Amino acid sequence: MFEPLTKQIKDSKKIVIVTGAGISKESGIPTFRGSNGLWRKYDPMKLATIDAFNQNPVLVWEWYEERRANILTAKPNAGHYAISELEKYKDVTILTQNIDGLHQRAGSKTVLELHGNIIRTKCTVCNFKENLRVSFETLPPKCNCGNILRPDVVWFGEELPHDVWREAVSQAQSCDLMLIVGTSLVVSPANSLPLYAKQNGAKLIEINPEKTPISSEMNLSIRATSVESLPRLVDLVSFC
Ligand code: APR
Repeated sequence: MFEPLTKQIKDSKKIVIVTGAGISKESGIPTFRGSNGLWRKYDPMKLATIDAFNQNPVLVWEWYEERRANILTAKPNAGHYAISELEKYKDVTILTQNIDGLHQRAGSKTVLELHGNIIRTKCTVCNFKENLRVSFETLPPKCNCGNILRPDVVWFGEELPHDVWREAVSQAQSCDLMLIVGTSLVVSPANSLPLYAKQNGAKLIEINPEKTPISSEMNLSIRATSVESLPRLVDLVSFC
């Protein structure tokens, strides 16, 4: 199953890897969709929009505090480490929808966070923005300026940070191979990145145990988890 892909990786000049919640599932961080997905249990409109936050910042913060605690104790898995290993051999850029920072903790150098980072906190009014690893005693936490802090993540209905998105599109348009790992590809605009790559002649390879709405556009779909497939793949690349 991996042989054709090993050659493609070997021959490629520039690889972009688009990742989603699936790559962190084996680190104990739940995905959003699928059987045990967070959006099966919780309503995203009550927890992940600016209107929800304005209406009930304590509820939104309680949910984020629980997720922050889980993410702070989670460790990168073999899939994250395999990608950082691949960077030793190839020009790799990661475009991640994940807010958990696990790619960076696995040693990856070029990571664009499309949806922000859950550990970074920003003021709803002033320019304060900082990584805060503590758990907050009083919710919602306040900035020194007196206003409420929020997680520096992109909620439904919000735009992606412009500079990050511009760079992500440019990376997608200039790669010759895109690996798409652990994302359902249903959330816009991140799900357009494979199409930008394909329009510019890149090959698309999907690693996902399940089909996605864009599976038919892929040159190859590997139906396995990231931990099952990425270390094996990177091993093969490093040996040949
Ligand atoms: N390895 C690889 N893929 C996996 C694994 C695994 N171990 N386990 C599950 N998957 C796949 C699922 O089949 C699914 O297609 O990962 C995908 C996870 O999809 P989502 O939960 O929808 O996550 P994602 O695509 O990252 O969601 C996009 O939606 O609400 C949000 O802002 C949130 O960034 C997130 C965005």
